Amino acid sequence: MHVSSNLSVQRTACLVLVALSCLFTPAISVKYENFKTCDQAGFCKRNRQYADRAVAAGSSWDVPYQISPDTLSWKNGLLQGTILKTINEDGETVRLPITISFLESGSARVVIDEEKRQKGEIGLRHNSKAKKQRYNEAESWAIVGGLAPSTTATEERDAKKSVVKYGKDGQFEAVITFTPFGIDFKRGAITEVKLNDRGLLNVEHWRPKTDKLEPEKKGGEEETPVLEVPAQEDESTWWDESFGGSTDSKPRGPESVGLDITFPGYSHVYGIPEHSGPLSLKETRATEGNYQDPYRLYNADVFEYIIDSPMTLYGAIPFMQAHRKDSTVGVFWLNAAETWIDVIKEKEAHNPLSLGIGSKTDTKTHWFSESGLVDVFVFLGPTPKDVTKAYGELTGYTQLPQEFAIAYHQCRWNYNTDEDVKDVDRKMSKHQIPYDVIWLDIEYTHEKEYFTWDPLNFPNPTGMLAQLDQSERKLVAIIDPHIKNTNNYHIVDELKKKGLAVHNKDGNIYEGWCWPGSSHWIDCFNPAAITWWKSLFQYSAFKGSADNLFIWNDMNEPSVFNGPETTMPKDNLHYGDWEHRDVHNINGMTFHNATYQALLSRKKGEHKRPFVLTRSFYSGSQRLGAMWTGDNEAKWDHLAAAFPMILNLGIAGYPFAGADVGGFFGNPEKELLTRWYQAGAFYPFFRGHAHIDTRRREPYLAGEPYTGIISRALRLRYSLLPVWYTAFHIASVDGTPIIRPHFFEYPSDETGFATDDQFFIGSTGLLVHPVVTEGAESVEMYIPDTEVYYDYFDYKGYEGKGVHTIEAPLDKTPLLMQGGHIIPRKDRPRRSSGLMKFDPYTIVIVLSIAGTATGELYVDDGDSFDYESGAYIHRSFDFENGVLESKNIGVKGKLTDKYLKTMKNVGVEKIIVVGAPLEWKEKTTVKVGKTEASVEYHAGEPDKAPWFLVKKPKIAIGEDWKIEI
Ligand code: NOJ
Repeated sequence: MHVSSNLSVQRTACLVLVALSCLFTPAISVKYENFKTCDQAGFCKRNRQYADRAVAAGSSWDVPYQISPDTLSWKNGLLQGTILKTINEDGETVRLPITISFLESGSARVVIDEEKRQKGEIGLRHNSKAKKQRYNEAESWAIVGGLAPSTTATEERDAKKSVVKYGKDGQFEAVITFTPFGIDFKRGAITEVKLNDRGLLNVEHWRPKTDKLEPEKKGGEEETPVLEVPAQEDESTWWDESFGGSTDSKPRGPESVGLDITFPGYSHVYGIPEHSGPLSLKETRATEGNYQDPYRLYNADVFEYIIDSPMTLYGAIPFMQAHRKDSTVGVFWLNAAETWIDVIKEKEAHNPLSLGIGSKTDTKTHWFSESGLVDVFVFLGPTPKDVTKAYGELTGYTQLPQEFAIAYHQCRWNYNTDEDVKDVDRKMSKHQIPYDVIWLDIEYTHEKEYFTWDPLNFPNPTGMLAQLDQSERKLVAIIDPHIKNTNNYHIVDELKKKGLAVHNKDGNIYEGWCWPGSSHWIDCFNPAAITWWKSLFQYSAFKGSADNLFIWNDMNEPSVFNGPETTMPKDNLHYGDWEHRDVHNINGMTFHNATYQALLSRKKGEHKRPFVLTRSFYSGSQRLGAMWTGDNEAKWDHLAAAFPMILNLGIAGYPFAGADVGGFFGNPEKELLTRWYQAGAFYPFFRGHAHIDTRRREPYLAGEPYTGIISRALRLRYSLLPVWYTAFHIASVDGTPIIRPHFFEYPSDETGFATDDQFFIGSTGLLVHPVVTEGAESVEMYIPDTEVYYDYFDYKGYEGKGVHTIEAPLDKTPLLMQGGHIIPRKDRPRRSSGLMKFDPYTIVIVLSIAGTATGELYVDDGDSFDYESGAYIHRSFDFENGVLESKNIGVKGKLTDKYLKTMKNVGVEKIIVVGAPLEWKEKTTVKVGKTEASVEYHAGEPDKAPWFLVKKPKIAIGEDWKIEI
């Protein structure tokens, strides 16, 4: 959230504005004029114009890029050479080095640079100190593995093309055509991804700004310089660009890169968060019902953002999956500069001779970034899981969070005093509403100086943290990247003295406006800044902090109230003299990383997993902690918009995501608040939050029946924590999303490819369709197969592929259990997850039509890194022929035995079998190893399934056992 820029330079005006906004509820709507459209972003317009020229020229489009075959060399999975770009009719060329790497993982990478810039043989204007090269360090932030070159790839070449076979058993093929340059990626005989198929490759090469004098002088006037520009090119934004009152000096001139990527036969593409539209991306370029502008990735604090829009938001993951029946492929565009992506779906004309075979759709995408390299990874699947896994191998899998972090978080801007925090804490306990974390927004500080506490309102942070600790609860406090520019604040003094701030284009410390007023920004690209940042979080330095205090990083796009598009000028300079333009989308991640590192090293020997929430993110941020979708509104359509966003984040490798429950701006009606809690209980990151101007809305304030219903939604989350934690474990080892869209689980079922209002939780077969519309009494839920499904709460059965009506009165979330799964739960309500650590489990077996079921459970201490040394329990559960068996699927490590000892008294208190066969009616006991346990058979009501209960089977969760029914 920010205050509009024209007011923001006046601190007093800011205060007046805040005061006024408390009196009125202003109309909410995005300020379009603060953000560029494609037409207003020079390189976006230029690349679209280039595409238009190509389309207009049709088959006579003369692609100016060709590989010069004599430059090619092949070694150890790498094909290297030079692309020549013809830049004028005289045949003059520019040399663009290209490296195509074929990786052991089966992924391929194409990198195109520019020789002149690479060698630094260019001139910079305005005495700029910026680096001359194209930014080539995105990799060092985003990539953590998976780059080992293939040892088995082979290359064959003739005069026109090079053919590389790679991947497991040589199943993939890349055909690199020399003239014009293009690459077709094939799986088996089928082309799945095409680069430069439409000839839109565009590397804006360096050129000096040449001014020539106009031939005639107009009577005594100054001579006006004019530019020499190749025909057809729009040079108006080559050398500087103005927007909203600021001018970008662009010392390196035009330098954008663009490329078309086509997915033949694919009609769905997903990913490229963060946007507020549907999971299956819409077309751009203003075809009917679609977006006018391309999807934009330029991390920004978009005030009062609207939903269903390709407008940029706070984070950027330039990774896309394309999906058709039984095939998924993906691309990752590794570039940290402002990026736009056009999406067009083209149906091939129906061939009347094809006798009923429908026409096929190609999805044609066009990617362009303002600066940097062309650096594209191509993943050939064939399943969604393969693609997500391959992407995670490169950028890392999601952090395995502390268990408290996946429980419920209670936040608002602001809890006013330490007594207020303690009061909310007590009231949540009194009303038996579980929560794990309470949050402090910016007002806890002394005048927005981070690492301080307001002495009047927070005189005793230690006492506050101690009270929370009594219920194993935590505190999260906000710390933003802007550092108040004021006297007598040692943090800003050190920042300046140590030279760790971001600089402006002239090399002075950059000054802008944010919450504290005049501020400087820490430059976390600088390793020395990270070292300094770490020192600030030591318990001895950050007075009043303790080991149950964790951190929230906000405003790290960075948000600058008086900056262009509420962020930093693009010609600002970072560590290494890289322009802000080059690194903008990574900036937020570098700050998140510094805080993560800082929490890791708060005290020697304290080996706890950090928890840091971020608003801004890039590919790789998933390694560092959770994100949330920013400043949404207390409106039904914002509630509905959150799931498609979270699903898209999940398939783009960032599953630890959530939206502000209740809506940030505005006051939700009680029905909306209740539905939002029921939905939020299915967000991987589950936090209630509200703007400073809103009324208090802690769950116990809602009154009955709402408080009771919200409490039950929260208890449902807590009871399913074993399921959530297991899903986080899976995501942390192979990148599988925590909440999974239909296409991911049913890649053959075309009906579900665009479904984004219902989803599965982990691999549990739990299928949920949260209510997101006002006054709903039921939802239409799509069942994708012929398995039996049961209502989670009353075991009502549903069978048959297709749409079913599920009752959804206010006190109910439509949640089904798919037959064939085993679901571990913990059913004893507690104040926090920490207090549930040694509680017994309930195991729910949901029988399939065939009478079988499987499941898994992952458990560890929930806070340390000991799991890396084997301190965890990982079990598979199988039910077949009336026998339930628990087997170890973990790998023994140094700390396994020690950990298992701590868990030896954690048992299973009951086993429920849903869909129990009638023959079990007569049973009074079942065999549990060598002993027995008593049982009960419950005949279901007419349309509800019978269920069977095994009472106190006396088995430990960490051991092997068998139960024979
Ligand atoms: C903007 C964030 O998006 C919001 O959640 C927070 O409350 C405000 N900044 C104040 O820190």
